[in-house]
Amino acid sequence: MCNDPDIIAENIQQVKLGSPDYADRDTEEAMQDFIQRIGCYEATYVPIDDKTDRRLSYIKIFNVGSRYLVNRVQGHIQSRIVYYLMNIHVTPRSIYLTRHGESELNLLGRIGGDSGLSPRGQRYAQALAGFIEGQNISDLKVWTSHMKRTIQTAEALGAQYEQWKALNEIDAGVCEELTYEAIQENFPEEFALRDQDKFRYRYPKGESYEDMVHRLEPVIMELERQENVLVVCHQAVMRCLLAYFLDKSSGDLPYLRCPLHTVLKLTPQAYGCKVEPFFLNVEAVNTHRDRPANVDVSREPADALQTVPDHI
Ligand code: F6P
Repeated sequence: MCNDPDIIAENIQQVKLGSPDYADRDTEEAMQDFIQRIGCYEATYVPIDDKTDRRLSYIKIFNVGSRYLVNRVQGHIQSRIVYYLMNIHVTPRSIYLTRHGESELNLLGRIGGDSGLSPRGQRYAQALAGFIEGQNISDLKVWTSHMKRTIQTAEALGAQYEQWKALNEIDAGVCEELTYEAIQENFPEEFALRDQDKFRYRYPKGESYEDMVHRLEPVIMELERQENVLVVCHQAVMRCLLAYFLDKSSGDLPYLRCPLHTVLKLTPQAYGCKVEPFFLNVEAVNTHRDRPANVDVSREPADALQTVPDHI
């Protein structure tokens, strides 16, 4: 329910004027036209009535969250939906996502582990500090994982930061600290199974992307509640966060491109999110491995390694 003229005007401005209905129309004229259109909706729409509809389960949100009316909420899913709706907001803000600076293990093409930054990674941390300063962000919160490489990256900012265990990189279990080549050599079947269904595949004694999506839920809820936040995280974590904000499918999620030394600035807008990438001009290794053409368990090693990025 929205009857605040300022909120309505802001919404028309942000959402409706860009629609094809108003292409090449004068802004003021389009605004008046849409206000008339709302009048037509009002004549036809029937609001839920608090008395006659009292047996229904519903939530009424007044003027984008200034008041809520929650009626007959039953069960886990409904209460989660109410919790979610009561935590989102429309205050303009941006979320900055970045991976840590290049790590010593990144240079060697080894996944996981808890190594520190390489010299180029340290240069990225400095460049990130300069970039953030240049953005002139009010009340920026900085979040890291519990891993050395994100903490060392955030240290360079000279600001307070909060460490979240939930932001730690995917646990690759028995494959931790191996290169993709070594995984193929030691666990060829596992490697192929991961290529077959990368979202659901769980490393032995480790995690899947699906597990991570669950582990990141509290982080995502808190991101919804906050305003400007810089999240210094990891490749798989950044893919999960990005997929949430950009509404990507579980099939696309594990292949989203999140290169090192690049900040993605996400600015939520009505019905979507604007994404601006900033490469901070510090070279880094490529850690992205695309899905190879052959994902059969009986494939040749060369087929399995077809898309492995270069490393030392
Ligand atoms: O290679 C860097 C890294 O962050 C690893 O620690 C992690 O296992 C991997 O990326 C995740 O990417 P992918 O799921 O594509 O292997």
